[in-house]
Amino acid sequence: MTDHQLAKLQRLKEEALQGGGEARVARQHELGKWTARERIDHLLDAGSFQELGMFVKHQIADFGMDKKRYAGDAVITGLGAIAGRQVAVYAQDFTVLGGSFSQMHARKIVTLQDMALEAGVPIIGLMDSGGARIQEGIRGLAGYGAMFSRNVLSSGVIPQISLMMGPSAGGSVYAPALTDFVIMVKDTSTMFLTGPDVVEAVTGEQVSTEELGGAMVHNTRSGVAHFLAADEAGALAMVRLLLDYLPQNNTDDPPLASANDPATRQEPALLHMVPATDDQPYDVKQVLQAVVDQGSFLQVQPYFARNAVVGFARMAGHVVGLIANQPAFLAGVLDIDASDKIAHFIRICDAFNIPLLTFVDTPGFLPGVNQEHSGVIRHGAKIIYAYVEATVPKISVILRKAMGGAYIAMSSREMRSDLALAWPSAQIAVMGAEGAVRILHRRDLAQAEDPARLEADFVQAYREKFFNPYVAAELGFIDDVIDPRETRPRLIKALAFLRSKVQQNPPKKHGLMPV
Ligand code: HXC
Repeated sequence: MTDHQLAKLQRLKEEALQGGGEARVARQHELGKWTARERIDHLLDAGSFQELGMFVKHQIADFGMDKKRYAGDAVITGLGAIAGRQVAVYAQDFTVLGGSFSQMHARKIVTLQDMALEAGVPIIGLMDSGGARIQEGIRGLAGYGAMFSRNVLSSGVIPQISLMMGPSAGGSVYAPALTDFVIMVKDTSTMFLTGPDVVEAVTGEQVSTEELGGAMVHNTRSGVAHFLAADEAGALAMVRLLLDYLPQNNTDDPPLASANDPATRQEPALLHMVPATDDQPYDVKQVLQAVVDQGSFLQVQPYFARNAVVGFARMAGHVVGLIANQPAFLAGVLDIDASDKIAHFIRICDAFNIPLLTFVDTPGFLPGVNQEHSGVIRHGAKIIYAYVEATVPKISVILRKAMGGAYIAMSSREMRSDLALAWPSAQIAVMGAEGAVRILHRRDLAQAEDPARLEADFVQAYREKFFNPYVAAELGFIDDVIDPRETRPRLIKALAFLRSKVQQNPPKKHGLMPV
């Protein structure tokens, strides 16, 4: 090895570390954003990063591009560790040609995706890109095709996490959309297929970048994002937290934590969390938090479809997926967005060997012309499909209302649930009392001297008959009615029994889940 050879290596590395140069790095910082390298440093365990493809450059000369050849070609890729676990990571470098996606940029990401899939390790993408590099034409577009193919083939095999840390336009939004989790940084990240100028030209609508595809929009309305971070540090910390609930791949179990909360803990507060009256709201998150290992609940999509709550937690140190109706929001009805949210979460848990605990308190699917016309039938069907298809342990606890189709859909016993429990406050019926009485006794009520009085009597009789868990328990559709205080120990014991569960679906190429 000559000094000259070593010096050349050193010089080329230093050049690559410059990114798009001082001015563009300064602009990145002015925008409140870190550079791609700074982000990787914050994300990974210190000293763990091994970079790959540092010297890759684009191969075109058109549009003066021969004078804009930057080492790395706008993306940094490599291997590293998070909390001692292997991960693959790529970070688009906005300081180089706006992080735009070229043939060689794609090649670097695709190479990493192949390595991550073969090694069975999670892959994390830090996105900050103006989309397909305009000067490259078809080359970048073809690269997206190659990248999306890996996203799809990796789906359900290794966890794929996308962090949106700047603009992401065009093809740059479909790659995250094909991954399992999308984390957006408030105020600095946006996602849209076509920007405000194109929107105005095509539809005449005037909209700002933030209104069109900002972090709040995708976290609250579109459901494209799963987490909202206040800043870049928060987004990177979220990845580390999320990985703590996910396995390396689908043949592995999520990390076991040392149990910090007694498995036998009974929780007296659970006696009073669900109001005695039917239609009084309460926050179901309090129930979940009282049941799971203390401080272990991580809500997913907390701002989207808030009538449903989904998230990860631990029970005696083992990761579980929680699904609950949220009576504090729209009475916990199931609608189109809640159906999509629940179905997607079930499939994530099933893919990654995470048992499902479902807490039921819902008056049913949301009636309405808009819901029907927008396809609540096919969206609601996704919940049923996902629960039935899932082969991980599945346990449901009916807290209060379990009405009609929503009773069936929410992990009911007959839908391949392993265990169906109910609190004494459970109400399992085809529909609510008032609606049922008006249908069953329309003629009696029309002819009655005092219809209000008669209706009240009928309602009372209906409630006595159905508004309890015992008819269902007598028929074996509920395995046990439990004292709410015992919910945690009962679930932990059942989960221990079900840990060795093996269940297989009929062989097929793939099912046809409603979309
Ligand atoms: C080449 C690009 C680029 C692109 C940005 N740049 N996007 N270069 N191809 N797609 C360059 C700019 O020329 C500029 O170069 C630098 O990156 C920074 O960009 P600015 O515009 O100065 O930054 P900013 O004002 O922050 O705006 C960021 C932006 C905007 C919102 C992303 O650049 C933008 O709208 N870009 C185009 C987005 C887009 O429509 N992409 C194509 C999508 S089509 P200099 O040298 O001045 O620093 C697509 C295929 C779809 O992706 C496939 C679907 C499956």
